[in-house]
Amino acid sequence: MPERIPSRDLGHLPTQQGTEFIVAFYRLFKGATLYNRKNFTIDRLAQECLQVINKLVNSEGHFSLKIVRDNFFFNNVRIQVNADQYTVLRGFLHEMRSRWIGELEFADEVNGEQLKDFVYLLCGLEENNESNYLYILKQLEYRGVEAIQVGKFESLKAEEIYIDSKHLKRESKEVYFRSIGLVKDVVEGVKNQNVLNVRKAKRLMQNAVNAIMQDDSALLGLANIKNYDEYTFNHSVNVAIYSIAIGQRIGIPKKYLSHLGMAGLFHDIGKVKIPKEVLIKPKKLSVEELVIMRSHPIFGAEILMKMKEWGELSTRMITAAFEHHLKYDLTGYPKLTRKRKPSLFSRIIALTDFYDSLVRPMIYNRLPYVSEKILGLMLERSGTDFDPALIKVFINMIGIFPIGTLVLLNTDDIGIVTQIQEDSELIDRPEVCLLYYSDGEYRKGKVVDLKERDEATGEYKRTVVKTLNPNEYNINVAEFFL
Ligand SMILES: [Fe+2]
Ligand SMILES: [Fe+2]
Repeated sequence: MPERIPSRDLGHLPTQQGTEFIVAFYRLFKGATLYNRKNFTIDRLAQECLQVINKLVNSEGHFSLKIVRDNFFFNNVRIQVNADQYTVLRGFLHEMRSRWIGELEFADEVNGEQLKDFVYLLCGLEENNESNYLYILKQLEYRGVEAIQVGKFESLKAEEIYIDSKHLKRESKEVYFRSIGLVKDVVEGVKNQNVLNVRKAKRLMQNAVNAIMQDDSALLGLANIKNYDEYTFNHSVNVAIYSIAIGQRIGIPKKYLSHLGMAGLFHDIGKVKIPKEVLIKPKKLSVEELVIMRSHPIFGAEILMKMKEWGELSTRMITAAFEHHLKYDLTGYPKLTRKRKPSLFSRIIALTDFYDSLVRPMIYNRLPYVSEKILGLMLERSGTDFDPALIKVFINMIGIFPIGTLVLLNTDDIGIVTQIQEDSELIDRPEVCLLYYSDGEYRKGKVVDLKERDEATGEYKRTVVKTLNPNEYNINVAEFFL
């Protein structure tokens, strides 16, 4: 693994969008506490804020900003606060909470007068009045402003929605295993009756997108656990999940994220046409066999052309199935006579497919089960095999020690990685659930954060020494993780 992991230059889109909105809106809000609405400063601030709002409405359809405890959620995705914007976000949080306003929603474009109306209404609210939001709603209605809505600051209800990670874990688990069953069904359908039915898969991928947008750690964890029985169908689901998670980080709109999931789920569908002896041959393939194997992208495209509805989704799926073994520098297969750059979806799937097929369980693979080696390998091929920008995003997402990895710490503890740090500088300092040995087996202990330092010495309290193979320790990671 190279010394330094490049920092995430594409950023976390909901954070960027949410922060941009808060900064512009809070400035206007502050201005409104100082000047009257005829002042030219207010005009300028309102125009600046308007630009941000209308840009967001145009790209997202509508957007909402919610406050849950001390956190902001932009379109239900938590905003990651960075040091530069910390004071502004704190200030805004304080102003909203003291007025019992917990949600702002923009459903359509607004004009300058409407925005000013709204901001002066907010400013003028009395503190600690729980029904402030009703007053605002009434006033907005009275003025004919339909595009703006506000909601009450409700800590309890909101906690149920966002903080209940157990619920999200359960849901993620269901999405994951149902997807595996579903891919199986679709494959059987193609094999036996030559029909392709993807209706259910579509809905499931929408669920996966929702879960990933709230918190991707549960689904990424499931994708990283490699000791399931049936690898083949797992692989498809893993590729879908990794791809959606990358897509979310580079700002692909929600609607297309589920398309991306579908393209990932069925990228290898062409393999149903490959004879089993070739498909699961443990030894090296002969030249003829390799030719057969390498026709699966073409078979895949052919099968997907049977999809009933033609449109954006089917086109994207066909393209991705056809292109997923093409490399960034246009080598790879199938051989094209007219060279053109693979589509964004294909480029994403090419790298998640590569990663997931190498991090397979040992029984399938000569390469050892360590993802840091594979990520290193991928980084070396950045720009030739893979899209360099996507590689950066992917490595930051997976971390050197992916969720679900069994690690040995310098304190001689062993533990399982449960969360990757958002800050790419801390990519080697994940959160780890310590394990302790009692009554003949390993049990879940406390969760520690490896970025914690000793107060007296300033040194890190715990550091990963190496990764361990869970099978050698008789540990079923899935059991601990779920
Ligand atoms: Fe493939
Ligand atoms: Fe694949």
